[in-house]
Amino acid sequence: MRLALDLLIAFNSLAVARASSISQPASDCSSLLNLTLAPGYEVSNAAIFQSETLNASGIVNTVALCRVEGTIHYGHDLAPGDDGPNTLTWNLYLPKPNDYNGRFIAVGKDHPTISMDSSPLRPKAVSLLDIPLGNGGYAGEIDEASMMTQLNLGYAVAGCDSGHSIAATGNSTSAPFLKNNAEVKAWIHDSIAMTTNLTRDLTTEFYTETPAFSYYYGCSTGGAQGYALAQLYPEMFDGIFAGSPGNWYSHLILSFLWNGLHTQRSGYMSQEVLDFITTKVVSACDHLDGAIDGLIENPQLCKYNITQLECASGQNSTTSDGAVECLTSDQISATKAIYDGPKSTIDGEEIYPGMSLGSESSWLLQETTLYTTYSALILKELVFDRSSYNVSKFDWGEDVLEVDQIASPLIDAISSDLSAFHSRGGKLITTQGWADPFNAALWPIQHRNQIQANMSGINASDFMEIFMVPGGGHCGSNPAYPHVPGTYDVLDALALWVEQGVYPAEIKSSDPPDGTNTTRKLCPWPKNARYVAGDVDDWVSYDCA
Ligand SMILES: *[C@@H]1O[C@H](CO)[C@@H](O)[C@H](O)[C@H]1NC(C)=O
Ligand SMILES: *[C@@H]1O[C@H](CO)[C@@H](O)[C@H](O)[C@H]1NC(C)=O
Ligand SMILES: *[C@@H]1O[C@H](CO)[C@@H](O)[C@H](O)[C@H]1NC(C)=O
Ligand SMILES: *[C@@H]1O[C@H](CO)[C@@H](O)[C@H](O)[C@H]1NC(C)=O
Ligand SMILES: *[C@@H]1O[C@H](CO)[C@@H](O)[C@H](O)[C@H]1NC(C)=O
Ligand SMILES: *[C@@H]1O[C@H](CO)[C@@H](O)[C@H](O)[C@H]1NC(C)=O
Ligand SMILES: *[C@@H]1O[C@H](CO)[C@@H](O)[C@H](O)[C@H]1NC(C)=O
Ligand SMILES: *[C@@H]1O[C@H](CO)[C@@H](O)[C@H](O)[C@H]1NC(C)=O
Ligand SMILES: *[C@@H]1O[C@H](CO)[C@@H](O)[C@H](O)[C@H]1NC(C)=O
Ligand SMILES: *[C@@H]1O[C@H](CO)[C@@H](O)[C@H](O)[C@H]1NC(C)=O
Repeated sequence: MRLALDLLIAFNSLAVARASSISQPASDCSSLLNLTLAPGYEVSNAAIFQSETLNASGIVNTVALCRVEGTIHYGHDLAPGDDGPNTLTWNLYLPKPNDYNGRFIAVGKDHPTISMDSSPLRPKAVSLLDIPLGNGGYAGEIDEASMMTQLNLGYAVAGCDSGHSIAATGNSTSAPFLKNNAEVKAWIHDSIAMTTNLTRDLTTEFYTETPAFSYYYGCSTGGAQGYALAQLYPEMFDGIFAGSPGNWYSHLILSFLWNGLHTQRSGYMSQEVLDFITTKVVSACDHLDGAIDGLIENPQLCKYNITQLECASGQNSTTSDGAVECLTSDQISATKAIYDGPKSTIDGEEIYPGMSLGSESSWLLQETTLYTTYSALILKELVFDRSSYNVSKFDWGEDVLEVDQIASPLIDAISSDLSAFHSRGGKLITTQGWADPFNAALWPIQHRNQIQANMSGINASDFMEIFMVPGGGHCGSNPAYPHVPGTYDVLDALALWVEQGVYPAEIKSSDPPDGTNTTRKLCPWPKNARYVAGDVDDWVSYDCA
């Protein structure tokens, strides 16, 4: 503990030293408008904002900045050019030189916005179902709140709309950008690299010095973008944070479809039924890690037999006052299908991992919105190119092969060969909630195992780690677990690893939705936090074992 604190102090003073080492005067902000740029690149605005004058979704700039805005026109082959029919829109925030920490960071699209009531086990169904498509997984806007957060830490920050506008993400029945292969390719694979190519040069121009280190920070679709960068642009970033990664996007949407189709009609489970399951599962497995804290530390060690929740013959599934008592056999079957995940009808192979024990109370999204918005649109517009495609007819054999052939090359970033990123000294950190309502929590673990298997003689821990979050949601807290901290101290850990070679043996999480001072220890998988002694709500009471 002591050691980690000392290093953190050392790290912060490094930032100060670096900033004060910039002796040359920075370029004037507005002069960035006058640069001669290669064809396709355009700076449309460059202006100074004093501190406390910009507000991005409630996050206000605490430092003065030069805000630069512009576009990149790109063609069918994604090459920038004045006549490129597609447009990427970007922003660059440059803190004033004495607030600059010498580092560049590109932020990817963060997670879909889901506002939910934070009372235990009671998401507000109405807002839960109201996920905006644009700037959720489909992006289309710049994540200015994420940019502002990094700006206030002293980073030069770039962000983009992922290569298409919010209008191109359409509505619940049509997403026009999915019909444009260049835009589809830019979305996850290339938009951050295109943006970084230009904005990092502008950063160098402004401070008259190349950034000392370059980072990428993104979660959800942004996490997929992070793996794409490590795979396709291994030289570009020194450190990558890729949270809750949807990097096997083509099969992630098949898991949405599987879960959605298995819970229609008699397999449907209301929020009350889902809460009932989670309560039973958590109370059976909470103690396994030695701390009774309303959480399953490692769901893989929980051997809960869900069949015991099935109604006895003649038993009503609810009591006379409406409380859930047991599950119907169709609900039990649906539950098992979701834990198992989709399987191919050709060879029984896993198509995507299943959801984990303890995540049930968040499944309403899987039952309703995710398959209609993501699976149906991607299958209809990108894969089968048929306006009338009926997802209920999806063939879990042949159609999976079609998805692999058409969608995977455009939207997946699942190479197990990250050796180029490893050999240039890159570091990658992933966080993943065990109770993520979107992603099967096991996927990042499986993918890391694939990467490890590809590296003979090298320990993948030399350059990448996954931090699983017990009771964690999608890129932050899960409303069903309001006592679980939702802010992960990943960027400091990543920068220490990149810049000083300090291995991230643990990460602190804080800020639970319940407003308490609870902190928890996140450990590099396969290690888990183990209670040692002291306050169960204080991260120092645990070690990683
Ligand atoms: C930018 O160029 C314009 C027109 O050439 C000129 O008037 C202006 O002074 C220049 N601005 C800066 C900051 O160099
Ligand atoms: C920033 O905007 C949010 C709404 O997005 C508002 O609630 C908040 O009061 C604003 N903060 C400041 C300092 O203007
Ligand atoms: C969705 O967008 C398509 C294409 O623009 C349009 O034809 C359709 O009417 C829209 N549907 C809804 C529900 O707004
Ligand atoms: C980035 O710039 C380099 C050098 O100009 C170029 O080769 C590469 O294609 C560019 N990449 C993207 C994604 O724009
Ligand atoms: C699970 O529980 C059911 C019902 O209680 C029981 O019939 C079954 O044998 C159990 N399965 C296992 C693997 O323990
Ligand atoms: C089950 O309980 C519900 C709610 O109390 C009631 O409406 C229904 O009639 C009961 N069904 C049976 C078969 O008892
Ligand atoms: C889609 O297919 C299912 C299963 O065959 C069928 O029940 C449903 O009516 C179809 N939906 C439409 C809109 O055709
Ligand atoms: C790693 O992956 C690459 C690309 O798929 C493959 O060519 C190579 O054989 C793999 N190496 C090992 C050791 O598995
Ligand atoms: C890989 O490195 C990690 C972190 O140092 C260590 O915990 C783990 O035991 C190593 N694994 C192997 C197989 O050496
Ligand atoms: C958290 O708050 C509780 C009660 O308010 C207090 O007893 C405890 O010492 C605090 N813990 C930490 C680590 O600050």
